[in-house]
Amino acid sequence: MPLRGKKLAILGAGQMGQALIGGLVRAGKVSPESILATDLRPEALHHVRETWRVHTLGADNPSAVRQSDVVILCVKPQTCARVLAEIAAEIRREHLVISIMAGIPTRLIAERLGQPVAVVRAMPNIAALVGEAVTAIAPGRHATREHLRMAEEIFGAVGRVEVVEENLMDAVTGLSGSGPAFVYTIIEALTEGGVMMGLSREVAARLSAQTVLGAAKMVRETGLHPAILRDQVTTPAGTAIAGIYSLESDGLRPMLINAVRSATKRSSELSQFLTRSAEEDVSERAA
Ligand SMILES: NC(=O)c1ccc[n+]([C@@H]2O[C@H](COP(=O)([O-])OP(=O)(O)OC[C@H]3O[C@@H](n4cnc5c(N)ncnc54)[C@H](OP(=O)(O)O)[C@@H]3O)[C@@H](O)[C@H]2O)c1
Repeated sequence: MPLRGKKLAILGAGQMGQALIGGLVRAGKVSPESILATDLRPEALHHVRETWRVHTLGADNPSAVRQSDVVILCVKPQTCARVLAEIAAEIRREHLVISIMAGIPTRLIAERLGQPVAVVRAMPNIAALVGEAVTAIAPGRHATREHLRMAEEIFGAVGRVEVVEENLMDAVTGLSGSGPAFVYTIIEALTEGGVMMGLSREVAARLSAQTVLGAAKMVRETGLHPAILRDQVTTPAGTAIAGIYSLESDGLRPMLINAVRSATKRSSELSQFLTRSAEEDVSERAA
């Protein structure tokens, strides 16, 4: 239990910060007293204090960092330069800094903190809100195996975790970061299909969502290749093969591959833009 006894500062108690706080407390990974949350919005802090009994410190990021062992940056990437400048003086070499800010490289974070501090970059997805996220984590230059284990434990509280090299973070954003939006579209389209064939919208929506959930669980829990599972439900001259023929002739496969490719490309463009903006913002502050 690498997290036991550690104090966690969660900077930014928005959607993701709250999902992490809830997951960690629910899973008993850390006690509520070991979590210090900050945010600009008093109502967000009121919510986490009342729901999870964690400590809140207004927007006093330096104080949260001073009192913690692990700092989790859950603010928007656009706020990155400001928050890093605020906390730099409080960062000690023993700190572990974890960032979920999309597009911001560990190199930039360590540089702005002015120390050879351990930084782990993480890309969760929105399903953290229901404990079914998949989070990719990547170690920065000074992060050790132990730091990664701590990050795995933190994100394990809101779903599953994969370790990747940092240069694959755009691909992760293209697949699992953006993926919920793709799957929502698929669920909506399946629902329309059901409506077209005479089902009520409510029933069709429930059938679609549960079918996607069930199929995903079959893949995850059997560990079998999806093609094998598909073959198992595709009887000769049956209904599934008729539908599959339609999907293949209409190009579902290249369509989804292209969706991941386009989202990855866009993630890379945004990452370059955000990194440049953060660098410019910092040099303006220094001037
Ligand atoms: N949502 C996702 O699906 C998702 C997935 C992967 C990664 N991420 C990353 O997670 C991060 C948070 O996203 P989110 O969706 O949780 O955003 P969010 O709901 O806007 O949460 C960010 C919170 O940080 C607060 N904040 C702003 N400046 C601050 C400061 N100086 N000190 C402390 N708190 C401050 C914001 O307050 P105000 O609203 O008043 O500014 C807001 O409550 C982003 O960097 C995003 O790239 C999000």
